[in-house]
Amino acid sequence: MPALIRTLCLLSLLAVTAGRSQQHSILLESAPGTYQANASFVVNGVIPQQPDAHLFTPLEDLKLLSDSEFTSLSHPSFPRHGVRIKRSNWCDGTVQAYTGYIDIEARHLFFYFFESRSDPDKDDVIFWTNGGPGGSSSMGLLMELGPCKVTGPNQTEYNPYSWNEQANIFFIDQPVSVGYSYAEYGESVGTTQEAAKDVAAFVAIFFENFAKFKGRPFHMAGQSYGGRYIPLFASTIYDQNARLIEAGMSTVNLTSIMIGNGCTDVIGMMPAYYDMQCKNITVAPVQRIDSCVRMRQALPRCEKRLKESCSDQFDLIDCQAANAFCKAEIVDPFIATGYNPFDVSRLCEGEMMDTFCYSITKMINAYLNRADVRSMLGVDPAIGNYSTYSPEVGQAFAASLDKFSFPAQYYIAGLLERGVRALIYAGANDWICNWVGNERMTLELEWTGQQTFRAQPLRAWNVDGKTAGLTRSTGGFTFATIYGAGHMVPYDMPAESLELVKRWLAAEDL
Ligand SMILES: *[C@@H]1O[C@H](CO)[C@@H](O)[C@H](O)[C@H]1NC(C)=O
Ligand SMILES: *[C@@H]1O[C@H](CO)[C@@H](O)[C@H](O)[C@H]1NC(C)=O
Ligand SMILES: *[C@@H]1O[C@H](CO)[C@@H](O)[C@H](O)[C@H]1NC(C)=O
Ligand SMILES: *[C@@H]1O[C@H](CO)[C@@H](O)[C@H](O)[C@H]1NC(C)=O
Ligand SMILES: *[C@@H]1O[C@H](CO)[C@@H](O)[C@H](O)[C@H]1NC(C)=O
Repeated sequence: MPALIRTLCLLSLLAVTAGRSQQHSILLESAPGTYQANASFVVNGVIPQQPDAHLFTPLEDLKLLSDSEFTSLSHPSFPRHGVRIKRSNWCDGTVQAYTGYIDIEARHLFFYFFESRSDPDKDDVIFWTNGGPGGSSSMGLLMELGPCKVTGPNQTEYNPYSWNEQANIFFIDQPVSVGYSYAEYGESVGTTQEAAKDVAAFVAIFFENFAKFKGRPFHMAGQSYGGRYIPLFASTIYDQNARLIEAGMSTVNLTSIMIGNGCTDVIGMMPAYYDMQCKNITVAPVQRIDSCVRMRQALPRCEKRLKESCSDQFDLIDCQAANAFCKAEIVDPFIATGYNPFDVSRLCEGEMMDTFCYSITKMINAYLNRADVRSMLGVDPAIGNYSTYSPEVGQAFAASLDKFSFPAQYYIAGLLERGVRALIYAGANDWICNWVGNERMTLELEWTGQQTFRAQPLRAWNVDGKTAGLTRSTGGFTFATIYGAGHMVPYDMPAESLELVKRWLAAEDL
């Protein structure tokens, strides 16, 4: 049924805009690879020069949407794009919730959207993605910062610390093939650049269709590999705005990025991996002395080889070899200790590749595989079994060595220079994308405010009179740690995490 509605809707649009869509689809599909150097490519492909804005009446009141079937929306500026959306009371119960797909040609990105518990008509909009690559944002939604938590295969519980306390928020399964998202021809995405193309289209389509949120301050947040996704996604959306203006459309009010335990600079993480397992940082050393000595000897070679073959220039074969060496010498010995790589203060629950060290992930899988839940959410029948992690996507990103292939931190600098604020926060107990590596990345980041930023001492920040962590901040750039939290800060320290976000949205000091 949804497929039929979509087809009809796209057909009618194509009839109106056939000439242009032909032309633009050629642009969109041409020259794979060139987009890496030219982010404006994204929009060149999807936005015609003269949109027929008068043909389109956006839906002012989302409450008019059906809760039993999808409503399909589309916009003449995006002739090959559409939105399928369904209303529900799901998960929160006190606010409007919407789920659906943004259809980008043959690619379909699933999202969950929740209105703010405070003032949906005025509050900011947050975009959230988990990392992986290949991780579904259902983890962020149902175990971390969403309006409810899964507490059993058949039940959810209201989360009083959800980030929609003071913001409208959506969770997106991206890139295609992750979670409930899919591609009709089974194509998968193996680079952040390619993922950014779909996300930029997603965001532009979202704001065009959900008119009441147009111009609203927009914050892009993510965790883990999100530390690489978010800087590039946000930059692509920033650059896309120039094209939106040319096309006579309203711009996306990109205001900030928020990165939680990001692996932004993966090369810079290597010495931090050593520090976090062999020094008395956050917790006493978890690694044997003899392993630490071997690791310390291997570290300079690991860093040198990564610099030469991944960073100074990118050579896939040599970078792969360097990565294999670093993994064997620095990463594998930590995994062998049995400690949870997402939280050095505890052991892994279950098998890493089965539970990701948190047994709740199994419940999330079971819950999102229930036929009644899928039908309520409006999941396309084309989706097979749900999984919180897509091995195909993980492997595609691994094969392209995406994690080494571009310096994500430079995009953060680019955003800061343009007044887009950036919050880099890290649960202090995480190992895999730890605070030590993140703090160094923030100190080394070259931008106009660098000297002022570096001159700030780390100071304590408090929640309810108690120290919640350490922070350093200047000119829209903030680094913060959260004590007692691992990789998934809102899971471990929900009250502190919500307070952090509230102060950040309000542009207050922590
Ligand atoms: C980006 O691409 C557009 C058209 O595809 C072109 O006009 C523009 O010059 C390119 N910009 C750069 C910096 O290459
Ligand atoms: C969960 O719901 C399914 C389907 O409604 C049912 O078969 C199953 O027994 C339930 N499981 C639990 C633990 O309640
Ligand atoms: C973006 O949001 C800020 C903060 O609310 C507001 O002052 C500004 O006018 C908005 N910009 C646009 C282009 O809507
Ligand atoms: C390790 O660090 C903690 C916290 O800073 C400190 O209390 C403890 O004394 C240190 N242990 C050693 C052996 O230095
Ligand atoms: C989906 O899960 C069921 C139950 O775990 C299993 O029997 C089936 O083979 C799975 N299907 C696919 C396509 O993986």
